[in-house]
Amino acid sequence: MTDRTSISQRAIAVAPSATLAITNKAAQLRAEGKPVIGFGAGEPDFPTPAAIVEAAVVAARNPSSHRYSPAAGLPALRDAVATKTMRDSSYDVRPDQVVITNGGKQAVYLACQVLLDPGDEVLLPAPYWVTYPEAVALAGGVTVPIMTDESTNFTVTVEQLDAAVTDRTKMLIFVSPSNPTGAVYTKEQIADVAGWAAARGIWVMTDEIYEHLVYGDAVFHSMPTVAPEIADRCVVVNGVAKTYAMTGWRVGWLIGPIEAAKGATRIQSHLSSNVNNIAQAAALEAVTGSLDAAHEMRLAFDRRRRTMVSMLQSIDGVTCQDPQGAFYAFPNLTGLLGRPLRGKVADTTLDLAAILLDEVNVAIVPGEAFGAPGYARLSFALADDDLVEGLGRIVDLVASR
Ligand SMILES: Cc1ncc(COP(=O)(O)O)c(C=O)c1O
Repeated sequence: MTDRTSISQRAIAVAPSATLAITNKAAQLRAEGKPVIGFGAGEPDFPTPAAIVEAAVVAARNPSSHRYSPAAGLPALRDAVATKTMRDSSYDVRPDQVVITNGGKQAVYLACQVLLDPGDEVLLPAPYWVTYPEAVALAGGVTVPIMTDESTNFTVTVEQLDAAVTDRTKMLIFVSPSNPTGAVYTKEQIADVAGWAAARGIWVMTDEIYEHLVYGDAVFHSMPTVAPEIADRCVVVNGVAKTYAMTGWRVGWLIGPIEAAKGATRIQSHLSSNVNNIAQAAALEAVTGSLDAAHEMRLAFDRRRRTMVSMLQSIDGVTCQDPQGAFYAFPNLTGLLGRPLRGKVADTTLDLAAILLDEVNVAIVPGEAFGAPGYARLSFALADDDLVEGLGRIVDLVASR
């Protein structure tokens, strides 16, 4: 019999976003007057470039923006995303393969809704971004995490995929550059993973939202370009949030085979109709305009990245690999567990994050949120001074014992 007393099991089972929770907690403590430095947020601290904001202002004054528009996105934006995908990824797609979504997050959700039936298994290399397992679960899928670590620079191997695949495997989730580890797969690694999936008819959702944020020798490669054989089983997720400092505008997209794009459009037509037209006009300016502002921001992130890694590495008990992309460091903090920090002892990285917040007003996201206890994610998308101040507080806390 239906349980009328409670909300749905599906809603109960969804874990709140740990990264948003940390960001909100930090904001709340700040509002109470505490000098909190937050390493939680996955968003650039820069304002959106002026030309993009201006395009939105113009669109807001145009009455055609004040009406519903096609569920799959403004035709001009779908065209522009196809052109941009050729420009940045050398991937030749038609505009009707593109569906504009409310951020990359909704593209992830729709990809899962379109591809998964209840009980389908999804291979998910861990540490993983918090949203993936929830989007899989909301589609009735079953996440099969595959643990990676520093020994492969947090990249998954074909041997690991072989060990995890079953006859229920429908999809693999792939992200490079990676949130939370900053790992960037080489062209050869991408070819291996894509070839493995294509040979078995397994779909890949490849998340390319950090495509323009790579550092040092790392190079971004788009999976369906490196391995065209995966294209008819591949959904690309992308968006303007990270490249153009547009997290609040909520525009992303997915690109897939035509049936997948049509399925996503049908679902979106009932879920949210179209994405806000004014935000779409801003995104159109972003993807058709120059990447100069994005390159400027990348230089700042790179500088902060190097500062963060060297400060983390200077702490006794902390090891940290160089993140090659995105804007996160993912240090191993196991050396700080089980030892006194101002009289308190952290047994887990969850405890450690709480101690850091209480004792030195520093917010980090514990690895537990990403399926990787013992680690933490620290965003370096914050002002240089704040970054140095916040890390300095961690250095001092550990030194004081
Ligand atoms: C890996 C990854 N994919 C997708 C997104 C979604 O970004 P948005 O919904 O802001 O476009 C994020 C945001 O944190 C992300 O880190």
